[in-house]
Amino acid sequence: MTQHVSPTANRKEIDLDEVREIMSHFKPRDYQEAQELILSALQEINERFGWVSLEAAEIVAEHLGTTANRIYGLLTFYADFRTEPRGNHFMLLCHGMSCYVAGSSRLVQELADRYGIRDGETTADGELTVQVVNGCLGVCDRAPIVKLDDKYYGNLTVESFNEAIQRAIAAGKSGESAK
Ligand code: FES
Repeated sequence: MTQHVSPTANRKEIDLDEVREIMSHFKPRDYQEAQELILSALQEINERFGWVSLEAAEIVAEHLGTTANRIYGLLTFYADFRTEPRGNHFMLLCHGMSCYVAGSSRLVQELADRYGIRDGETTADGELTVQVVNGCLGVCDRAPIVKLDDKYYGNLTVESFNEAIQRAIAAGKSGESAK
């Protein structure tokens, strides 16, 4: 069973050759254009690997003629960027108004009690990362709902929530989870 928070558990490093390959497609003509490409480059790396490591950030900085400190600043400023790897499975837990009214707090509590994780955290065994979304996933008629890997699970009770997690873990690593 998954227990306790440890952001660096099962840490999978980013393939820096792939980062260099991604960066080779960014060919700014001047300094100004290079600055404008920084966020796009970080987004592409974040989407590809699920996070941006410090080493990857340094490659971006070098390629686009800025400092690593500036890149770290952007990574921490924008909530979409992760600076720790995702677990094998990634969950978006909707905590928007409809889901809240339908009981999403119970699911948030279950994650804390049973899996030892809160928003943005990964279980110690590296299986599950959760992101709590305060907006709306756009499927309020099935509230409360989560998106686990590529699938939506709606009308959740604590029991069906746990079942969905356990089934995903038993099925093995999501093909998309590290991307
Ligand atoms: S509030 Fe959760 S899907 Fe709309």
